[in-house]
Amino acid sequence: MLSNRHLLGLKNYPSQDIQTIIDTAFQFKEVLDRPIKKVPSLQGQTIVNLFFENSTRTRISFELAQKRLSADMVNFSGSGSSLKKGESLKDTVQNLAAMKIDAVIMRHSVPGTPVQLTKFIDAVVINAGDGTHEHPTQAILDMVSLQEKFGSLKGLKIGIVGDMLHSRVARSNIFGLTTMGAHVKLCAPPTLLPSDLGGFPVNISYSLDEIIDWADSLIILRLQLERMGQTLIPSVREYRSFFGVTSERMKKHGKPLVIMHPGPMNRGIEIDSDVADSNQAIILNQVLNGVASRMAILYLLLSKKNSEESDRDEQKLK
Ligand code: CP
Repeated sequence: MLSNRHLLGLKNYPSQDIQTIIDTAFQFKEVLDRPIKKVPSLQGQTIVNLFFENSTRTRISFELAQKRLSADMVNFSGSGSSLKKGESLKDTVQNLAAMKIDAVIMRHSVPGTPVQLTKFIDAVVINAGDGTHEHPTQAILDMVSLQEKFGSLKGLKIGIVGDMLHSRVARSNIFGLTTMGAHVKLCAPPTLLPSDLGGFPVNISYSLDEIIDWADSLIILRLQLERMGQTLIPSVREYRSFFGVTSERMKKHGKPLVIMHPGPMNRGIEIDSDVADSNQAIILNQVLNGVASRMAILYLLLSKKNSEESDRDEQKLK
C-alpha cells in the first residue's frame, strides 16, 4: 500500500512507493496487450479530469487509463465552466466534491494549485503538471520506460538536456531518479537553469558533448518559449548549435544512447527529426507506458482510499 493519499510531487516521495508504482505499471502494461484492454478494477469509482492548461498526452492517457480500469470519468474544462462567471476555484471544486467524486486529476498553470485542492476536498488528488513545479506522473512513466530498457534504475547515468528553468518534468525526474539511485547530470545554458539548484543532488555541465559521452540515456526537454517573459537565449539557432541533439552530433559520437523526450517536441530545435524517429528513441514507448503508469497510480491510490474508508467504517460500527 502507498504511504501517501495523494500524488502531488516526487520530492521526498518514498523509494519503495515509486518501485511499487513501477512494478504495478508493468502488470497493467500486460492488460494493454490483450485483445480486450479492460479490467474491472475501478468499477463504481468516479474520477474528474480538471485541466486548466493544454495537454495532449497526459489528458488522453489519464482518460484511457480510467476507461481501461472501468472507472466513471468526467472531463471538466475551465473555459466552459462557471469559473468564467467569477466563481472561485474553491467553490468550483467543492461543488464537484458534493457530487461524490473519488479522485481529481489536475493540471494548472499555477505551482501548488493541486496542494491547495487537497485542503478543499476529500477526494484523492493527482498532480498532472502544475506550472513550473512538478509533473510526477511524467517522471513515473519515464522511470518505467528506463527500467524496462535497462532492467534497473540503480546506477543509471541520465543526462537531462534543455530548458530546465521552466521544466516541471525535469524537477520531478531529478527527485524520482535520484531517489531510485540513478545519477543525474543537467545540461543547459546558465540562463535556463533554476537559481536554487543547490538543493538538488545533481551535477551540471554546459557541454552537451560531455553529457553524451557520460550518459546511458538523455531526457531532452522542450524549449518553452511561451513561458519565457524575457529573452533568455541569444537565438533559437544558437541554442540549437550548442544544446540541440542533432543528427550530426549523434553521428559524431556514434553511441547507442537511449533518447527520451516527454513531448511535445520542437523538431529541429532541441531534437532533430532523424534522432527523434531513430531506433535509439523510445519516445512513443514512453507514451504507451504513460497509460500503464497512470493505471497503476489510479489503482494504487484509490485502493488505499477505499481500504482506509472501510477501516474507518468498521471502527464506527465497533
Ligand atoms: N508530456 C506532457 O505532459 O505532454 P502534454 O502537455 O501533451 O500532456
